[in-house]
Amino acid sequence: MANTESWGSRVGLILAMAGNAVGLGNFLRFPVQAIQNGGGAFIIPYLVCFLLMGIPLLWVEWSMGRFGGRKGNHSTPFILHEMDPKRALWKYIGVFGIFTNIAVAAYYCYLESWTLSYLWHSIAGTFNGQTADQVAGFFGNYVDINTSTTGIPFEPIVFWIICLLLNTWILAKGLSGGVEKVAKVGMPLLILFGIFLAIMAVTLKSGEHGAVNDGTVGLNFLWTPDYSSIWTAKVWLAAAGQIFFTLSVGMGSIQCYASYVKKKDDIALNAMSAGWMNEFVEVVLGASIIIPISIGYLGIDRVVEMTQSGGLGLGFKTLPYLFTQWGPTLAMIAGVCWFGLLFFAGITSSLAMGTPVMGFLKDEFGWKHKNAAWFFGLIILVLGLPTVLYFNEGVFDEYDYWAGTVGLVVFALFEIILFAWVFGMDKGWKEITAGADIKVPTIFRFIIKYVTPLFIGGVFVASLPGILEKITSTGLPWQVHAARVLLLLMFA
Ligand code: PHE
Repeated sequence: MANTESWGSRVGLILAMAGNAVGLGNFLRFPVQAIQNGGGAFIIPYLVCFLLMGIPLLWVEWSMGRFGGRKGNHSTPFILHEMDPKRALWKYIGVFGIFTNIAVAAYYCYLESWTLSYLWHSIAGTFNGQTADQVAGFFGNYVDINTSTTGIPFEPIVFWIICLLLNTWILAKGLSGGVEKVAKVGMPLLILFGIFLAIMAVTLKSGEHGAVNDGTVGLNFLWTPDYSSIWTAKVWLAAAGQIFFTLSVGMGSIQCYASYVKKKDDIALNAMSAGWMNEFVEVVLGASIIIPISIGYLGIDRVVEMTQSGGLGLGFKTLPYLFTQWGPTLAMIAGVCWFGLLFFAGITSSLAMGTPVMGFLKDEFGWKHKNAAWFFGLIILVLGLPTVLYFNEGVFDEYDYWAGTVGLVVFALFEIILFAWVFGMDKGWKEITAGADIKVPTIFRFIIKYVTPLFIGGVFVASLPGILEKITSTGLPWQVHAARVLLLLMFA
């Protein structure tokens, strides 16, 4: 059966692509990376990485996708092969673009399911009247499968399964009938919720409802350029990692979405619309919620200290408590906005992780669309289970590191070499500019050929010591070793 799906409309395509990029990374990962890396010191490397790696990779991946799709290919093994048909190697490298999606989805969907549960608890008013410690403790109990004291038996598993079913059901409805519809409703709502929360955060006044700082103190922390730590490799690695993750580049999901674009359609402007929408959501909305609210109540030092031990705490342990300072009604509204926003951000991204696998099964084995969707749901159930059962042992973080951090850089390095040097910039530039509704600045031809590959190569080399340190670290729980073997088997 031929795979002949396509997007319903241009707006739908842009919103789906923006939904792919806008995710939990924008609201949970970005603020924490920024705080951990010195606020104003983070922003400059971040923007440089966006310009020199993010934008070029967006154009490269969109054009690879449309190129492959023209010949009926919808997943990276075939798309990469099509670009250099003489060498079988690329087909195997392309497999990364399927497995990274599966491995990221396996832990991402678990995180996504928390937002559903917390949405429920915000409506039920669970956090009202609780102390800061109690709200933080709620999270601890939640992820500890053995002590389910949150009110619903096996609560994390229940919400996780609901979340997987939702994803599968939407994927089964197809691109224009499922994914695109969710993006068209979810993205505007997300932006609306985000604007409401950002206004609440930025207008926070010290002295009111127990805040110790104005909301603007957090914003200044982030937006006052600080050149002191700009030459620290760690800050650059964090900025590059964030750009990869937030734009969903180096994964294979953009190529897959773009492979359903019509032959003559523009990609140059579409890629920029979706990419810049992601940046707006990240640096404007993502930066104006967690940071000003938590710094408003707790002060810079305390918040910096809290993020040292990991990132998910602020969004789930701290914010729901701080919302209750605004009284029960506003706390409920804020909770619904915050977790609703996170849910829409999450689901429009996890759907994007499902489509490459489905495209592969449909192209290669002629699978029916629905069967491919259920198969994806099933793999995520199996591979995600360790992250649910052994969250506290660090299995979740292990997946995030290998698939969500290292995997993206490695794949992006391969694909930029293929695009700029094997496929070649003459053809490559034609692909990017064909049907373009904007004039792509010619300087990007040079950037894509030289700067981006060197930059990504540099990031990879600079992260090698960290990778080696991870591999050789001892005294880890057996579950982490098991997770590594599982991930390795997937890629082998
Ligand atoms: N970009 C998404 C986020 O910011 C994550 C993602 C990665 C989505 C890879 C799809 C593919 O959360």
